[in-house]
Amino acid sequence: VPPPPLYYSAFPSGYQSPLVSMNESWKFPSGFFWGVSSAAYQIEGAAQAEGRGPSIWDVFTHRATYLTVSNDTGDVGDNQYYLYKQDIARIAALGVPYYSFSISWSRIFPFGKGPVNELALAHYDDVINTCLQYGVKPMVTLYHWDLPLFLQNSYGGWLSDEIVDDFLSYAKVVFSRYGNRVSHWFTLNEPIEFCQEYPMPKGYFTAVTIPPEAQPFFCGHHALLAHASAYRLAKSMGINGTISFKNNGGYKIPLTNSTDDALATQRAWDFNEGWFANPVFVNGDYPQSLKDHVSTLGLEFTNEQKSLINGTADIFAHDAYTSYFYFAPDVGVADCLTNSSNPLYPGCYNSSNTGPTGWLIGAASDMYSPWLQRATDWVPAFLRYIQDTWPSGGIAISEFGWTEPYEELRTLKEDILSDYTRSAYFRNYLESVLIAISEGVNVVGCLAWSIMDNLEWTSGYHAKFGMQYVNFTTYERNYKASFFEYVNTFKLYAEDP
Ligand code: NOJ
Repeated sequence: VPPPPLYYSAFPSGYQSPLVSMNESWKFPSGFFWGVSSAAYQIEGAAQAEGRGPSIWDVFTHRATYLTVSNDTGDVGDNQYYLYKQDIARIAALGVPYYSFSISWSRIFPFGKGPVNELALAHYDDVINTCLQYGVKPMVTLYHWDLPLFLQNSYGGWLSDEIVDDFLSYAKVVFSRYGNRVSHWFTLNEPIEFCQEYPMPKGYFTAVTIPPEAQPFFCGHHALLAHASAYRLAKSMGINGTISFKNNGGYKIPLTNSTDDALATQRAWDFNEGWFANPVFVNGDYPQSLKDHVSTLGLEFTNEQKSLINGTADIFAHDAYTSYFYFAPDVGVADCLTNSSNPLYPGCYNSSNTGPTGWLIGAASDMYSPWLQRATDWVPAFLRYIQDTWPSGGIAISEFGWTEPYEELRTLKEDILSDYTRSAYFRNYLESVLIAISEGVNVVGCLAWSIMDNLEWTSGYHAKFGMQYVNFTTYERNYKASFFEYVNTFKLYAEDP
């Protein structure tokens, strides 16, 4: 067991509110939405129940090679498929107004297409109705990485344009069934992630002829068309909820003032956020540096496709956890994703001084402040950057969250529940959002990841993002201190307390 890191001792034994700069004039505007989030494969479990078909993640977590940490799977997850009523009651009890979760495509269509599974439709009916009964507004993501296996095996999933029609058929069933009971729809969760992290696991598209380094861009191309078509379909069906996809990425800071570092940082924006944001929020097409690259792969949008894609999000939903430094030389996104001798491998960035997830939590704080004191200084700058670069109907932080250092090694429940650095992260982050709002950035909502500890993909159950502790033997849930801090921060800065 490693010794506790130095920064942990920055917090004495009793709980200290991380309040650092409360300002009476800060207010979340009326209509601001806030809540907690999850995703089907990470929490539902019940992997073979009620007609659910397999997804790529079932195959992946059960493979003999390329395993997740401790061979963890989502077979049981948090058992939320069975415990959703208490989970919704537990968030309602704290006054959380929104719950964002995803629907499992392979429950609704066990083969991705073809026959619809009525049991699954009835299940999500009840999840949504339970939310509404408790006064919690449901927000639904259609695709959070759990591609029905059949679509992967028959045509390579997102690598083929066949995915667009199949996604549309799935979206149509979901929109018709749950239509106006859902306040916000997210079509795709983090296409950058499920397209970029190849060959496995998030997109899982190896068994096809497209070379690995080109696969992300084929996936992205079809993801954009699928998202845009689903958005247009929803509008044509008269769905009145807010619709967008969830983009993601950290704030990017050039390491030095050099022109080369500035150019590297710009390429990082283009090949990450801009990849999906430019087409949807600017002009229906890729940023120029990316366009130059993907056109060599034969990937270009027709004028008709550009018009289809442009303008297909009501808000800019962004999952923003952290910030990163970027520096030259970068030798192209494909190389730094695949070539381990590239100094930027494996994430096309390089950073020093990272937190326990390997994520920088804030440039300024990492360089000269104690751990987590104003650790989210990058947030207002990022929100301003998004507003200026990709004009939209408002920005939502659709995910943000934190892994408490060494939480998985703690044995006393009271220690686990006293998650001071996560509490500080949420408080500091929300105050940074308030600074951005006070400076005129149109931020419309925030959703914390996550409602409870869950399967953190390849990190298994070891990396914990939950604001509730889950005992994975009994499935009992307990609120952590951060959940109270999170809720109280919204109450403290509510327009009408
Ligand atoms: C983004 C993803 O959407 C979610 O599935 C994941 O668990 C969190 N970030 C934390 O990494």
